[in-house]
Amino acid sequence: MARGEQETGTRILGIESSCDETAAAVVVDGRTILSSVVASQIDIHRKYGGVVPELASREHLRQIVPVVREAMEQAGLRYDELDAIGVTQGPGLVGSLLVGITYGKALAEALSKPLIAVNHLEGHIHAAFLEAFQGGETPRLPAVCLIVSGGHTVLYEVNAAAGGDAEPPDDYSQSRGRAEMGFSNAGPLQKQNALGRMPVPQSALAYRKLGQTRDDAAGEAYDKVAKLLGLGYPGGPILDRLAAAAGNVAAPVRFGPTKTRGNALDFSFSGLKTAVLYHLREHSEYNEEIQKRQALLETGHRKFEELLPICSAQTLGLVREFQNAVVRDLVERTLSAAEECGVGTILVSGGVAANRQLRKVFEERAGKAGLKVFFPSPALSTDNAAMIAAAAYARFAGGIFADVTLNAMASLPLA
Ligand code: KG4
Ligand code: ZN
Repeated sequence: MARGEQETGTRILGIESSCDETAAAVVVDGRTILSSVVASQIDIHRKYGGVVPELASREHLRQIVPVVREAMEQAGLRYDELDAIGVTQGPGLVGSLLVGITYGKALAEALSKPLIAVNHLEGHIHAAFLEAFQGGETPRLPAVCLIVSGGHTVLYEVNAAAGGDAEPPDDYSQSRGRAEMGFSNAGPLQKQNALGRMPVPQSALAYRKLGQTRDDAAGEAYDKVAKLLGLGYPGGPILDRLAAAAGNVAAPVRFGPTKTRGNALDFSFSGLKTAVLYHLREHSEYNEEIQKRQALLETGHRKFEELLPICSAQTLGLVREFQNAVVRDLVERTLSAAEECGVGTILVSGGVAANRQLRKVFEERAGKAGLKVFFPSPALSTDNAAMIAAAAYARFAGGIFADVTLNAMASLPLA
């Protein structure tokens, strides 16, 4: 993008540190990504089979300054050319969140720029919009959004917020005294999109929670099953590829649909994980190859090409059946939600949204039902700061700012 165009838009630096990724990005007008830098801590947490909070915050501390600097360099901007700083307030690990929040506050204060608190889940929702904007598309509202990651599996109805027209304040200092800590929705600021055709909501959206997991998140189930099978951490990417490699091998077991009492739009994945555990316990023939894979992982060999040769047809069949069950549950409940809410748009976001089978089945099923489905690219599906900067822009447009009292909230709700 030419420098001139950058200068006309609102440039927001987004900072994300809620879990095990230190990320910073600069996004213009909530739609044009100038830079997006993600420092993953996977190598640090891998040997523990999950994120260790104390190690995560220590690593965020090490990474935050170079990651932000890199994002600014890639964007080709000076700090004083920013219009605002957006930072994840929660949900997430408190110690990790505090690193990003403290740095964001310090930058905002030092530069006299507005500070914007972003809900991580709202960031994931904006990732789907951000991706659509890159392709010149605009998801129509209302929509149903499935956020599916290692920490969350939740369904929301997403709507343009009701209320009057809010404009970004001309003079930021005037609005500072009215800084808001909460997440009440601002009125929708309807702007013309780049093509000047369809009005798109670029202000705060309104959310209604429709269902959520009662136990494990879907990504957590992937990670736990991969651990049981000696396939390393994180589990999603490797199980995704092994399931695809399974082809038509015989199914060693079948997993039925999960029923949840009460809200039919709630999810549950711990039963499936336990079913895999029991299946492995009952079939000792899996043991030898699991041990071989664990030994390979310990020597640092964890690539798909290295692990595939020591996966029997039985293991591949098991992985495929596990993934079929997860994908079926996610797709069925999301489609039911879309039908119940009478929406024409489905948004799918979060780390598990990178899953190829999930994307394929969603496309097929949504297409048949006459629904349009939007996914972020894999890089925008997993935790990143571009989605935080995009969500921050909506709050900037609505004049919703935070101040130096901003604090981390481990369980910050979205709705
Ligand atoms: O959104 P994310 O980066 O972090 C949070 O948990 O917030 O998601 C990470 C999760 C992990 O559980 C990982 O196993 C899963 O997303 N994941 C996948 C795939 N890629 C990542 N799950 C299934 N298929 C994938 N291709
Ligand atoms: Zn996330």
